[in-house]
Amino acid sequence: MGSETGADRAVRVERVGRVALLEIDNPPVNALGSSVRAEIQAALRALQAEESAGVIAIHSAGRTFSAGADIREFGKPPRAPAMPDLYDEIEASAIPVIAVMQGMALGGGLELALACHARIGIEGLKVGQPEVLIGLLPGAGGTQRLPRLTGVPAALDICLSGRKVPAEEALKLGILDRLEAGETRAVALDAAEAVLSGRLATRRTSEIDLVADPAALEAARDRLRRTQPHLVSPLACVDAIEAAALPLAEGLKVERQRFLDCMDTPQRAGLIHAFFVERAVANVPEKSATPRPLSALGVIGGGTMGSGIATAALLAGLSVTLDEVSDEALARGVSTITRNLDGAVKRGKLAADARDSTLARLTASTEMADLGEADLIIEAVFENMEVKKDIFTRLDKIAKPGAVLASNTSYLNINEIAAATSRPGDVLGLHFFSPAHVMRLLEIVVADRAAPEVVATGFALARRLGKVGVRAGVCDGFIGNRILSHYLKEATYLLMDGASPAQIDRALEDFGFAMGPFRVSDLAGLDIGWAERKRKAPMRPPEERYVPIADVLCEHGWFGRKTGQGYYDYSQDPAPPYPPAMEVIEAERAKAGIVPRSFPDEEIVERYMTAMISEAARVVEDGIALRPADVDAVFLFGYGFPRFRGGPLHYADTLGAAEIVSRIERYAAEDPHYWQVPALLRRMAEDGGSFDDLNRAG
Ligand code: 3HC
Repeated sequence: MGSETGADRAVRVERVGRVALLEIDNPPVNALGSSVRAEIQAALRALQAEESAGVIAIHSAGRTFSAGADIREFGKPPRAPAMPDLYDEIEASAIPVIAVMQGMALGGGLELALACHARIGIEGLKVGQPEVLIGLLPGAGGTQRLPRLTGVPAALDICLSGRKVPAEEALKLGILDRLEAGETRAVALDAAEAVLSGRLATRRTSEIDLVADPAALEAARDRLRRTQPHLVSPLACVDAIEAAALPLAEGLKVERQRFLDCMDTPQRAGLIHAFFVERAVANVPEKSATPRPLSALGVIGGGTMGSGIATAALLAGLSVTLDEVSDEALARGVSTITRNLDGAVKRGKLAADARDSTLARLTASTEMADLGEADLIIEAVFENMEVKKDIFTRLDKIAKPGAVLASNTSYLNINEIAAATSRPGDVLGLHFFSPAHVMRLLEIVVADRAAPEVVATGFALARRLGKVGVRAGVCDGFIGNRILSHYLKEATYLLMDGASPAQIDRALEDFGFAMGPFRVSDLAGLDIGWAERKRKAPMRPPEERYVPIADVLCEHGWFGRKTGQGYYDYSQDPAPPYPPAMEVIEAERAKAGIVPRSFPDEEIVERYMTAMISEAARVVEDGIALRPADVDAVFLFGYGFPRFRGGPLHYADTLGAAEIVSRIERYAAEDPHYWQVPALLRRMAEDGGSFDDLNRAG
């Protein structure tokens, strides 16, 4: 019997003697949406009815066995067959069913295999239950069947980390029965024949006795309460794994209930938005342009940023020439890079025996002329337009034709920098975030005359470095720092009006930020913002409210962590508020005639987030960000925005434009200059639109 199905079907059945090969073919990742599930069910039922098959081997086309449930169907009315029901049917099958997996078997993809009677991995396979990463838990038997195979501690680790488990480990843990090399269909056929001849044993996972481990469950709960206090689904996942001690049908009921509870949470929607945002930002007008070759990188400046960028490039396999002005500065840069690589070894990001060969790809030079062969040169010196223009004028003479010339400026006008060269089409902003070898965001700032293939090269570099590239237009601060400058002013207004740095930080950390704004400022160095404010002082409108507290701290030499004191006192651990800084705050309030008032935490969050959303809306309106999703990506990957809230503009949608407009109008009574309703928000409030509508539109 040949193929039973037409080309438009996602499931094909092929018969070879008593073997039935069932192939899933639903590109790109064999997601198991409702129609695919219905086809699997129909094929299985047909084979059962026919009774001539002695074994069914499920395998799949493409690079990946299956990425699990079709995430795009979440939130829509569920359609039968439900995944858990289908998997129960597979497990109950009188004909043995085996799974043969290549690439990835994730989420519902792995759960399908767990319901089968034996599992064979093809070398290179990785398996995982990544549901917690999107605000869910395995909802098709994973929390029940996995612990029966691996024991409770390993199941907790896999389900709570969401990590991709390599095949060798999966074999050791008992998730796989065999690990084979070869082409999927051939391995599937071999394995099926092995079942028929009794060389490969099969069994129902539900019939394996679970070894209960209450101590491991309690330890996991303790850890989650400490380390992930905001998240709902990891704790729900522990409850479901605990229920694996019950008979399967009862445990599955607990799992189902917890899964549905999580499905209803805004966290689930936020995390899934974050998943899609990470992919959506690659959709740029220049995406079909061919990137230029990229193997040798030049970095100008061996400070924290330049060294971090060089480290990221070395870790990605590129060769790097680092240029500095003096031997001492160069030696400092090289030693920072060496330290960064040692750190990468410690964090498991680089194999210890690869450390020296990685470092060997670094060339250090005090001659800018040595950058002549680089494919892409990134300038990462301090923020001064004249210095940068001078560097680009010199680079213009040195760089080979076709080299991409990039500036890592955080605020400055890339058009002006590009104009300092005879090849503005080759010039780009590449704004990395510190530490550049760790932070995943790369803002790709597109100057007016940048050639499409130069922009495409920026995105290719981001991909190569494992970063999320986000396209930004030219303005002061691009997407991220422009919005940051705006809402940090609100943080200082709250400070001046009576809230303390510690209260503001705590309120925002409770909201989910990795760190509050004053702790971040102390970490970045208060001198950075000071220099920025001085640069912008001539442009500051007279009606803008100005809070001088941070300037006074800097005048005292308190730059934050790097000098030991800032808003907090770093001579102690954990750092408490720094009393002399608190005196400065009180003195400045008194000087301005302000009687401090108290702010509830909710009001702090409300004002801060409204300020962030307002400027973010303007950034979209001005076309600096292509879509609201691009703003969300910038904040998720570069600014410690809580992932479970999906990004500032996804969060804005949960509030609704009308609510945000009414807040702005309320605050505007105190400060009509700062609080102005962006036209885009006004329109959305009037016509009921959302930022997500704009994402969908393009
Ligand atoms: N559902 C729908 N679409 C999916 C998907 C899924 N589960 N997984 C990936 N896709 C889409 C992506 O959005 C992308 O679409 P695009 O081309 O339109 O942008 C396309 O497939 C390719 O994905 P990637 O760009 O991510 O490709 P990679 O090769 O880099 O990565 C992957 C592949 C590792 C499978 C990665 O996509 C991934 O991690 N996917 C999510 C896996 C996951 O979370 N599974 C659990 C789902 S929930 C579940 O199963 C519930 C169950 O327990 C009941």
